[in-house]
Amino acid sequence: MAAKALKTLWLLHGVNLDMLGRRDPAVYGSMTLSELEAYVARHGEAHGFTVRSFQTNHEGEFVEKLHQLVVDHADAAIINPGAWTHYSYALHDALELLTAPVAEVHLSDIENREEWRRISVIADVVDVRVSGKGAAGYLDALAALAKLTTGRPQP
Ligand code: DQA
Repeated sequence: MAAKALKTLWLLHGVNLDMLGRRDPAVYGSMTLSELEAYVARHGEAHGFTVRSFQTNHEGEFVEKLHQLVVDHADAAIINPGAWTHYSYALHDALELLTAPVAEVHLSDIENREEWRRISVIADVVDVRVSGKGAAGYLDALAALAKLTTGRPQP
């Protein structure tokens, strides 16, 4: 029997997440971004995903990456947009274009920090939301996305 093709999952990190490892480890953990990306890629395979990673500090580049996912028919995405989560309607509108399932993940518990972090302007255009579980939250997202993509017809 032919080997089952892996699905493509994009792992997108936004503003300031390139500084993981230097940001307060009590809030964000001690992994660097490349360690986190490798961790998600490793576990992604077990869920049938080839994980591709991208990070930018530029909102327009993040939006353009989302457009690319639409054009390329990506199978799934995990996004941690950092502070853009709380105010970027541009991100909201770009996410609205995606038909693939998307998980919004935050390392920290955004519900129990400053008031302004409780607002996610993208909450209504994602399929899965995880926060406050550190790196393990990305594994929850992988598992949820694997379920959502199982049996999905190829576009
Ligand atoms: C974050 C939470 C955001 O409020 C913050 O601006 C970040 C990281 C998280 O992963 O916990 O940069 O998305």
